[in-house]
Amino acid sequence: MVVGTGSSLPARVVTNADLAEQMDTSDAWIVQRTGIRQRHIAAADETTSVLGARAARAALEDAGLTADDIDLVICATSTPDHTFPATATQIQAALGIHQGAAFDLQAVCAGFVFAVSTADKFLTTGAARRALVVGAETFSRIVDWEDRTTCVLFGDGAGAIVLEAQDEAGNRGVLSASLRSDGRHREKLYVDGGPGSTGTTGHLRMEGRDVFRFAVGQVTDVIVEAFAQAGVTAEELDWFVPHQANRRIIEASADKIGIAREKIVLTVDRHGNTSAASIPLALDVARRDGRIQAGDLVMIEAIGGGFSWGAALIRW
Ligand code: ACO
Repeated sequence: MVVGTGSSLPARVVTNADLAEQMDTSDAWIVQRTGIRQRHIAAADETTSVLGARAARAALEDAGLTADDIDLVICATSTPDHTFPATATQIQAALGIHQGAAFDLQAVCAGFVFAVSTADKFLTTGAARRALVVGAETFSRIVDWEDRTTCVLFGDGAGAIVLEAQDEAGNRGVLSASLRSDGRHREKLYVDGGPGSTGTTGHLRMEGRDVFRFAVGQVTDVIVEAFAQAGVTAEELDWFVPHQANRRIIEASADKIGIAREKIVLTVDRHGNTSAASIPLALDVARRDGRIQAGDLVMIEAIGGGFSWGAALIRW
């Protein structure tokens, strides 16, 4: 079950109006198409592991635990500090965790859902006792700031949760998860560089309309599957915490599944799309402002490059 949450956002806020001073765009266009009003952008010394470690430390404090209590660190990221070692190991070291395993997980925007599901498998098999699951990104480093069709969408940040196995009664924790990938869609959303191809980091490239269509048309399959596995209906859900890419995608998905709009946790207006960080950032906001309470049923859901997509149902 989730015993703590934390998050970290860079201090620098860039509004749509700020962007409109640098490129041919407008607050009205960005808000109307995406719901985004501002995003946080990392300073040079705020790397993914720095943001991730801050979020992880906050989650640990929130749980009332120390470094000795954690024996698994998974960091979902597509913007690691370095090609290797894993950013998760840098977070592990920064927190003084010296036992257990730490590794990165790459499923782009769906990374946090994949990481929660993976951590849960470690916990339910007894391979680990308590996991720090982190989503941390600095997409500002890989967007093409000359491409107004993509750069206005993204922001930087990190979020983390501390996850324990389900309680003994088996009714709190990760109840179900459904993960999917289909590599045939690579060209729709990818980075045009990498250590094994160009030897450079590359920039994010996206066919926005195709991604939009796929996100709304296809992704609800994993939500339906996660509900079915747990024997729960959309009406019973307390909070829907989707990947924060675009307000229109989120609302269309919720409508399709029959999830009431007031159950949606929406942070895309303030954070922009922070890829794998967006769900744990939103979870932390909704828990700290008192919306998510112990015992609540929470659905997390995301789609990202690959395509990779997934959903997990958590009893808080
Ligand atoms: N400011 C002003 N005008 C712009 C901008 C901008 N930043 N970007 C594009 N335009 C223009 C285009 O040039 C085009 O002009 P034209 O008609 O003269 O050619 C016009 O706006 C419409 O462009 P479209 O790309 O058709 O706009 P659309 O309505 O499809 O919205 C958007 C684009 C917001 C990217 C949308 O397709 C979308 O949200 N797609 C989903 C992509 C997404 O969320 N990806 C996130 C990563 S993946 C994930 O996290 C799920």
